[in-house]
Amino acid sequence: MNILVINGPNLNFLGIREKGIYGTGTYDDLCTYIKSESKKLNVNVNILQSNIEGEIINFIQESYGKVDGIVINPGAYTHYSIAIHDALKSIIVPIVEVHLSNIHSREEFRKTSVTAPACSGQISGFGFESYILGIKALVNLGGN
Ligand code: DQA
Repeated sequence: MNILVINGPNLNFLGIREKGIYGTGTYDDLCTYIKSESKKLNVNVNILQSNIEGEIINFIQESYGKVDGIVINPGAYTHYSIAIHDALKSIIVPIVEVHLSNIHSREEFRKTSVTAPACSGQISGFGFESYILGIKALVNLGGN
């Protein structure tokens, strides 16, 4: 099974940004963890990150027909990117939106996700584990 993980803006600054919320683990730590857990699940994982909305849309479009599922953390774009919503809508494979923090227990503006309605579901609040739960959901949905 081939799964694409897409990370949006500022996630490359993990370990530097707001450690009280996102923890001390770096972006490299996150990628290493996702890769090692995916191996155990017999999943081929490709992890991409961009701070630029259009690049994230390109990642989604370029994955068309090539992957069995997508895990996406759109970062702040979660809360306002109709363009990413539309790109996700055009993809047929299952998609899981993930967040490190619990977006529902933070500021009001974070409680709305415009991208989640274009996904199969959302996992929020489990730190690095959110990604693994997302990958497991895709595996369990089939395709292996
Ligand atoms: C985030 C939550 C977003 O609100 C925020 O803008 C991020 C990270 C998370 O993983 O908890 O950049 O997506």
